[in-house]
Amino acid sequence: MPAGGRSAANGAKYKTWPDGQTNRIAPPLTHQIVTPTLTPTLTPTTTMADTLTITDNRTGQKYDVPITDGTIRAMDLRKIKVTPDDFGLMTYDPAFLNTANCRSAITYIDGDKGILLYRGYPIEQLAEESDYLETAYLILFGELPTASQLQNWTQQITLHTMLHENIKKFMEGFQYDAHPMGIFLSTVGAMSTFYPDAKHIVDKQSRMRQTHRLRAKVPSIAAYAYRHSIGRPYNYPDNDLSFAGNFLNMLFKMTEVKYQPNPVLARALEVLFILHADHEQNCSTTTMRTIGSSQVDPYSALAGASAALYGPLHGGANEAVLRMLREIGSVTKVPEFIKKVKAGEGSKLMGFGHRVYKSYDPRAKVIKKIADLVFAVTGKNPLLDIALELERIALQDEYFVTRKLYPNVDFYSGLIYQAMGFPVEMFPVLFAIPRTAGWVAQWEEMLLDSEQKISRPRQIYTGPMQRDYVPRDKRS
Ligand code: CMC
Repeated sequence: MPAGGRSAANGAKYKTWPDGQTNRIAPPLTHQIVTPTLTPTLTPTTTMADTLTITDNRTGQKYDVPITDGTIRAMDLRKIKVTPDDFGLMTYDPAFLNTANCRSAITYIDGDKGILLYRGYPIEQLAEESDYLETAYLILFGELPTASQLQNWTQQITLHTMLHENIKKFMEGFQYDAHPMGIFLSTVGAMSTFYPDAKHIVDKQSRMRQTHRLRAKVPSIAAYAYRHSIGRPYNYPDNDLSFAGNFLNMLFKMTEVKYQPNPVLARALEVLFILHADHEQNCSTTTMRTIGSSQVDPYSALAGASAALYGPLHGGANEAVLRMLREIGSVTKVPEFIKKVKAGEGSKLMGFGHRVYKSYDPRAKVIKKIADLVFAVTGKNPLLDIALELERIALQDEYFVTRKLYPNVDFYSGLIYQAMGFPVEMFPVLFAIPRTAGWVAQWEEMLLDSEQKISRPRQIYTGPMQRDYVPRDKRS
């Protein structure tokens, strides 16, 4: 970790590995964990601050459960039993609608107010002032870097942009029409075989090395996946260019000696990368933490996170938005499409709605602004008018208003990517590149959290109880 940087683990109680290889950074006092206690009482309980009184009507017993940070501990409920050999009360929360799975100091979202902060900094300010590598540093270490820290970080990442030639050969094995996201996630997983030292997850130097490698090589894998899909030779990284500029070089360089990225497009891509860098405990980040909790190497965990991102309800949504806009075809067909969505006939309105945001996604606001800058260079995407009409109608329609469905980050990002020359299949890959910063920081935070163990939820069993095997000739 660079001098002066803070550990990503500062949202959690600090872990000491059994062999003593750890980072010695204590969490700030505001994040100290209060060990909960649960006291069954037989007498009526008076109101106390920061506790929840539960009456179990099966037994008449009352329990005081501590409330910390607006939550109760699910494990406290286990002491609520009808008989001493009872398993104890559990919570049932499919899809984690109301369950915090971790403490995290990385990203804060207020979904009602449309606020998104990375380590306390508003996304709008980072999109305006920062660049992607600086934001990735902030997400990982918790503070904006000094000039020398940023230089060192940038240099470390630049050093690792090349892919092993055998990774390229591995990628050549994919079919010519393989989806780039399928290539991407398989190749990220395969990287664990190239860097077996990544298994030493208790070694912080090793973790940092993999962090640099992942951050640096993910754009190279993405670009190679794209070049493979169009049958063009791979372009090697050009480390004179910015993070986004080099990515454009690896994608689009043809015969010119030196690729010169368009500065407006490079900056737009940099901003899109900042907007996608982290988003707290979403589906793919939860996957990263869950897989990582088994203490596997980060490449394998990141392959799983990428697979979660691939789905159309998550990072695949921007691809789905473009397909939807094409299918609608013209502005005049928008009312008919909205009618079908509301009737539940066919698709949802892709790029609308969010588990957390119940107001306009702040990332979508920034994207809408940069769309104008990009279209000034590339020419307007003809699908923009359909998107604007969809938004206009949906924002006034009772169905969407009552359900608090607003455009999310994916509604306009695809239009920009398409105008910049990216094929639709590349869209989820363009999400995975920046999200790698968040995945790696969340993985690090999870590993250093003394409260985390292997992720393993409970279930409510609904199948038959024990019964005897029936021989094949006796089955009806
Ligand atoms: N179009 C039409 N109806 C919708 C939509 C939509 N896009 N999203 C939610 N609804 C309805 C849903 O049918 C439900 O209606 P009802 O109460 O009558 O059953 C209600 O709104 C609540 O929705 P939900 O499915 O309970 O919400 P959720 O939190 O489980 O799902 C979501 C969130 C993002 C998966 C969902 O809104 C969705 O599928 N949106 C379209 C896909 C999309 O754009 N995904 C990208 C999310 S942002 C990028 C990222 O972070 O991954």
